[in-house]
Amino acid sequence: MAFREITPYELEGNLFKMIAKDWALITAEADGKANAMTISWGGFGQLWNELVAFTFVRPQRYTYGLTEASDVYSVSFYEEKYRKELGYFGSASGRDEDKFQKTGFHLAHEDGVPYPEEAKVVLLCQKLYAHTLTEEEFLCKEVMEKSYPERDFHKMYVGKILKVLVRE
Ligand SMILES: Cc1cc2nc3c(=O)[nH]c(=O)nc-3n(C[C@H](O)[C@H](O)[C@H](O)COP(=O)(O)O)c2cc1C
Repeated sequence: MAFREITPYELEGNLFKMIAKDWALITAEADGKANAMTISWGGFGQLWNELVAFTFVRPQRYTYGLTEASDVYSVSFYEEKYRKELGYFGSASGRDEDKFQKTGFHLAHEDGVPYPEEAKVVLLCQKLYAHTLTEEEFLCKEVMEKSYPERDFHKMYVGKILKVLVRE
């Protein structure tokens, strides 16, 4: 499976739809253990003169420990035919099972950054900044109550996009 590198500006597709409707996987690895989980919240843009991805991971996710322990991770996008697999990556936990093995997805690496080989687009990211959301800083309490009844606030990662890979 061959991927080719493009610049972020050459990426085709609507990133609003790609994250919110099509979903993505965040993949991280630490101590030789890799895991991926589904994400549909997040964003992409420019910050500190870098092109970046914003991802949000709740502390109870197994992926959280891996993103915390690693400097790099990937955000990857898929064709519609993998919807079922993305649903599984978003409901089962890598704490209990090997989600790659269960789905038949294959772990690949580029420059030491892990990503699933079945992806159509891969963003390789390097953590620049991380911040756990706080109750006090929510300006709209309605959003806070709705999204965090358990107060399990996401950690936001701002990741510099190191490389964009697209399937040939
Ligand atoms: C469509 C969809 C979107 C999701 N988006 C997020 C997200 O942005 N952040 C998050 O922390 N969890 C999100 N989740 C939940 C995790 O993917 C889910 O809890 C997963 O099982 C965690 O796996 P892990 O324990 O192996 O890390 C989403 C789940 C689905 C199905």
